Amino acid sequence: MASQNKQHVPLLAITLFLLICLSCTITVFAQYSPRFACDIDKDPTLEMCAYCDTKLDIKTRVADLLRRMTLQEKAGSLVSVADAIPRLGIPSYGWWSEALHGVSDTGPATWFNKTVIPGATSFPQVILTAASFNESLFYKIGQVVSTEARAMYNAGVAGLTFWSPNVNIFRDPRWGRGQETPGEDPLLASRYGATYVRGLQEREDGDKERLKVGACCKHFTAYDLDNWTSVDRFHFDAIVTKQDLEDTYNAPFKSCIFDGNVASIMCSYNMMNGKPTCADKELLEDTVRGEWKLNGYISSDCDSLHFMFKAQHWKKTPEEVTADALHAGLDLNCGMSLKNYTAKAVEMGLVNETVVDRAVTNNFMTLMRLGFFDGDPRNQFYGKLSKKDVCTKATQDLARETARQGIVLLKNSVGSLPFSRLGIKSIAVIGPNANATKAMIGNYAGVPCKYTSPLEGLSEYVKTTYAEGCDIKCNSTTNFEKAKKVASEADAVVLVMGTDLSIEHEARDRTEIILPGQQNLLASEVAHAAKGPVILVVMSGGGMDVDFAKCDEKITSILWVGFPGQEGGGALADVIFGRFNPSGRLPMTWFPRSYVDIVPMTNNKMRPDPVTGQPGQTYRFYKGKTVYPFGYGLSYTSYVYRLIKAPSIVRIDLNKAHGCRSSPTCDAFDTSDSVCKGLELKIDIMVTNIGKYSGSHSVLLFSSPPDIFNAPQKELVDFKKVWLESLQRSVVCFRVNVCKQLSLADEEGKRKVALGRYLLQISDIKHYVTLKI
Ligand SMILES: *[C@@H]1O[C@H](CO)[C@@H](O)[C@H](O)[C@H]1NC(C)=O
Ligand SMILES: *[C@@H]1O[C@H](CO)[C@@H](O)[C@H](O)[C@H]1NC(C)=O
Ligand SMILES: *[C@@H]1O[C@H](CO)[C@@H](O)[C@H](O)[C@H]1NC(C)=O
Ligand SMILES: *[C@@H]1O[C@H](CO)[C@@H](O)[C@H](O)[C@H]1NC(C)=O
Ligand SMILES: *[C@@H]1O[C@H](CO)[C@@H](O)[C@H](O)[C@H]1NC(C)=O
Ligand SMILES: *[C@@H]1O[C@H](CO)[C@@H](O)[C@H](O)[C@H]1NC(C)=O
Ligand SMILES: *[C@@H]1O[C@H](CO)[C@@H](O)[C@H](O)[C@H]1NC(C)=O
Repeated sequence: MASQNKQHVPLLAITLFLLICLSCTITVFAQYSPRFACDIDKDPTLEMCAYCDTKLDIKTRVADLLRRMTLQEKAGSLVSVADAIPRLGIPSYGWWSEALHGVSDTGPATWFNKTVIPGATSFPQVILTAASFNESLFYKIGQVVSTEARAMYNAGVAGLTFWSPNVNIFRDPRWGRGQETPGEDPLLASRYGATYVRGLQEREDGDKERLKVGACCKHFTAYDLDNWTSVDRFHFDAIVTKQDLEDTYNAPFKSCIFDGNVASIMCSYNMMNGKPTCADKELLEDTVRGEWKLNGYISSDCDSLHFMFKAQHWKKTPEEVTADALHAGLDLNCGMSLKNYTAKAVEMGLVNETVVDRAVTNNFMTLMRLGFFDGDPRNQFYGKLSKKDVCTKATQDLARETARQGIVLLKNSVGSLPFSRLGIKSIAVIGPNANATKAMIGNYAGVPCKYTSPLEGLSEYVKTTYAEGCDIKCNSTTNFEKAKKVASEADAVVLVMGTDLSIEHEARDRTEIILPGQQNLLASEVAHAAKGPVILVVMSGGGMDVDFAKCDEKITSILWVGFPGQEGGGALADVIFGRFNPSGRLPMTWFPRSYVDIVPMTNNKMRPDPVTGQPGQTYRFYKGKTVYPFGYGLSYTSYVYRLIKAPSIVRIDLNKAHGCRSSPTCDAFDTSDSVCKGLELKIDIMVTNIGKYSGSHSVLLFSSPPDIFNAPQKELVDFKKVWLESLQRSVVCFRVNVCKQLSLADEEGKRKVALGRYLLQISDIKHYVTLKI
């Protein structure tokens, strides 16, 4: 009651205020208001300043601003908590916000407040979203997240620059941050990254120059180890070949820029080939800005420059580190280094002020594109977004829908799933994640609108009983008896096992890839006590060796749910009861346990190495046994494929003067060749749903290139998701850009199109196509 009264006071005050001053825009809570520059109401003299003039183009405005700044003011604009410049009407700006799978409070510039905005929609962790192989879904999530972010910015509790997504390749199953990524495949990671970035950045009013919010693709590059045995990311030096860099590590970053027009790239903590990535001019200035033409700023990871000095002993003084980073192309530093040492570095002659100017310009250009210098944002296009636009029914439904589209069915014995509500009247829900809440949202999450745990989700369908069995680490069997008893009394059992952030997390890589502690034993014992079907649900970021369950007849189905987000339990229940037909496919290989004994996590070579006996990494290069391969995923229905149209020979019409035409040994040509323009393969496939359930299906097109350049044995070149009613069929048309999608990196990292025979594979369809001159 008391709190209700309190809420009425400001409303009444506002009503009165509005009666007096109809044209005023005000917010309910005056304590928090959005930060912005050029507040002409507060300081009318700003109106005379060109940088505040919204009619001028952004370049002119930034140049005008730069002219007015002192060196120390410039230095203060190069760090994540940028200094205020009161004499120019610029408030302090916090660059560091995060929105990996929903607006997060991991970065200090964004936070939740019970009265202002208590939480935001928490989508599944990215690894599960990627499993949906649905690009329009990636885009839609980005749009929802940026709308909530703008609403929070208007309320004064968020910034405009979000350091998401993480597009590093999930190279090794042990990586604690693999959960944040779209998986191990460069094409899927590229598509996810670029599409999510577009969802975040693109404005609904179609203004192409401006940004809704600023995204950031990180961590550039070859970053995929956090803390494994005695090696950590601040000391690790990734040894990477030019070839692996081009066709694996850098691919998603290039796509973020080319296809997503991302506003920022963040360099990583690790060194690559002996150099800290944030001090590598070839990587930042030459590649990202020069070759790829980033339209935006390059940031460092947090305290990167500090670690460069302290942990990597890169240079003798912090001023030299600062000069190196600025010369390499860095514009912004998460931390304090650039603010502390830039002016001194200039005075010492280590770096010229023109280099500092470039950095300041890139940062302010980005803020201008975000409208930060356009006066009160509440009078601008997104100005009306507020608390009512956060955690709506529609956004929470989308969180549930995303989890449903991502969940992967790995095993399904006849008569197991889906459950019928007539046959299954009670379920024992067992396991350390059976009543998971926080575990469902993974890392880089915010405060969710609410949680629907697996137990709650299943209880919406039938009567449930619950037993934890053991906690995540599962080092005690004390409560197994109770779990077995509960299992023996129910019509069916759902075991929700797996990990949480205590097992896989930032700064926490795994050393094991089986279920933690005695979880296998719990699952087996419970399964043998059960009288009906037993569903093993694996909640985890990384893959697991669940061979024991694959082989156990008593475990009738296996589902992987990633970290499924705030509505994860509801989505799981929808899948179990067949309200939703699962369509997710694994975005990473699930390796057998023995893999971790064979491959050191510190080996960055993607290709197999006959000298050391390394087997090659990810499905593109690894030839050994798997528990479940990349792209694996079952459905309640069956799909059959028929090839409708595909060429067998493609003749490349190279220019008469081209060396390849006269050379009998020519086996590849450059992707910069003019013949590339419009060179396309058309492949049409008929997909028919021959089962009784309707459903969505992701059609994956793989190519195995000719044996040249140590090329991948198999590689995803395109994918499309289609919806098919029972007995419905549909033609899926792939248009493969030969030079973009079929090209290979040679040993020097140059893109080439190999001549010769390619094996195209879609499920069980195999088709050969030969590229000839
Ligand atoms: C949340 O916002 C309210 C209203 O502006 C304010 O009174 C309160 O102090 C804030 N709480 C915190 C923890 O910041
Ligand atoms: C930067 O300077 C501040 C204030 O003097 C100090 O607290 C901080 O440790 C310095 N940071 C670095 C990375 O040098
Ligand atoms: C600064 O600029 C001058 C003139 O262009 C140049 O000669 C000098 O090498 C530059 N200094 C550094 C440290 O780059
Ligand atoms: C499940 O977890 C919620 C929230 O943590 C808790 O309130 C509830 O009591 C738990 N349910 C059971 C049956 O333990
Ligand atoms: C088992 O876990 C508990 C708490 O999680 C801990 O206190 C105990 O030391 C662990 N025992 C062993 C044998 O690891
Ligand atoms: C690595 O992990 C160990 C043990 O979990 C921890 O003590 C250490 O602080 C971590 N190091 C880093 C750099 O994260
Ligand atoms: C992809 O996701 C979108 C957005 O949720 C959805 O409307 C569409 O049906 C999905 N596509 C398929 C084929 O399931």
